[in-house]
Amino acid sequence: MIIDFHSHILPGIDDGSKDLGTSLEMLKISKEQGIDYMVATPHFHATRISISHFLEAREEAYKCVSEHRKSDMPKLIPGAEVAYFEGISEAEGIEKLTVGNTGLLLLEMPFGQWNQPMVSEVERLIEERHIQIMLAHLERYLFVSGNRKYMRRVMELPLYVQINAGSLKEWRKSKRLVKMFKKQQAHLLGSDCHGVHYRPQDLAEGRQILQKKAGREVLNNIDSLGAKLLSINGEQQ
Ligand SMILES: [Fe+2]
Repeated sequence: MIIDFHSHILPGIDDGSKDLGTSLEMLKISKEQGIDYMVATPHFHATRISISHFLEAREEAYKCVSEHRKSDMPKLIPGAEVAYFEGISEAEGIEKLTVGNTGLLLLEMPFGQWNQPMVSEVERLIEERHIQIMLAHLERYLFVSGNRKYMRRVMELPLYVQINAGSLKEWRKSKRLVKMFKKQQAHLLGSDCHGVHYRPQDLAEGRQILQKKAGREVLNNIDSLGAKLLSINGEQQ
């Protein structure tokens, strides 16, 4: 069961797919790459939109694609890529942004300097709100100087780390990421695809690199964890 845990495939809702045609083309390409499920994770920024308005817009976009999706194309599961904000651990309704009905939240950490209050908020989301956290594209933060200490603390929390497949193609990151997957410090893959030409679907390519460098077992671990998190039992739903 191949799952893309991070995609901007829903049309007209963020900087991803611009229209239905693009979304369907992205689904077609994803199908050709053997992908079974795609988690649709449009950007959510608390400063720009309320949770209820976001969910309304997402539902409309999701319905639109679902109605036109051919049955042999990857299935879509609605989610969100939630940008970290101060107070997130106390935000009302934040659990409504989790993937499908899994309780799994794709969290995008800030690109600047991290600090201890941020680590504590992530911890509270897990411990007090009982939300399972999946950190979006952690590799983007690996080389930010000064963040190492906080990144280590975050990674010590019981959470999942999502890596963008395309980063496995970057020589500067690839070696480190392969090591992280082998040590189970990284757990899930996403394409973070935004369109057909710009930031296209490249999950298959990333998986191939990972299989070559880390072995089939690592991919099997990724796939079985993904299926477990989404409660998929090997059969198409
Ligand atoms: Fe993204």
